[in-house]
Amino acid sequence: MSNYTPDQVLGHSDEADGIEEYDNRLPRWWVGLFVFSVAWSPAYAVHYHFVAERSQAGEWQAEMDAAAERWPQPTAEAVASMTVTPEVVAEGEAIYKTNCIACHGPELKGGIGPDLTDATWIHGGSRDQIVATVTNGVTEKGMPPWGPVLGAEKVFKVAAYVHQKGGGQY
Ligand code: HEC
Repeated sequence: MSNYTPDQVLGHSDEADGIEEYDNRLPRWWVGLFVFSVAWSPAYAVHYHFVAERSQAGEWQAEMDAAAERWPQPTAEAVASMTVTPEVVAEGEAIYKTNCIACHGPELKGGIGPDLTDATWIHGGSRDQIVATVTNGVTEKGMPPWGPVLGAEKVFKVAAYVHQKGGGQY
């Protein structure tokens, strides 16, 4: 570096669309910042993960816990003991209109998804079977799993509506 002279062009503008560059030394403040951040990162990583025990998974869990407290979901037992009433079916219809119409049609006669009013069932037409299909979906055939989206109570309601519109006799 003894023959270092600042502000000399490197002379490869012909390869770089006419753009020239210098090979000047980096400013001291920049190198200082670089060295500082390299030295600081292990300390920060150790503190973050092991001392403060922060993690994305932990923050996500905390948000989920807060949401569960704010919008309590009924327990599995509470859903299991629900009964089908006209109110439940009406709420199920509203859930259907929001989430299912796009594929199963406004009259449940099908479209992208199959007709839900006829006597032909791929996955079974009992209310429990409909609950299972809607909860778990048939991902490989294009039916999304609704359990994680709607929760057990809304799945119960929309299944009650579908069952009443179509598979009630099975
Ligand atoms: C993105 C399109 C799509 C949406 C949205 C959708 N489905 Fe489906 N659904 C399908 C497809 C495709 C199938 C056929 C799956 C198969 O062939 O196994 C299906 C199958 C079903 C079945 C089983 C039918 C049978 O014959 O066994 C039920 C019940 C059902 N859907 C209910 C619903 C409900 C209730 C909703 C709304 C919460 C909904 N679906 C939303 C695409 C969709």
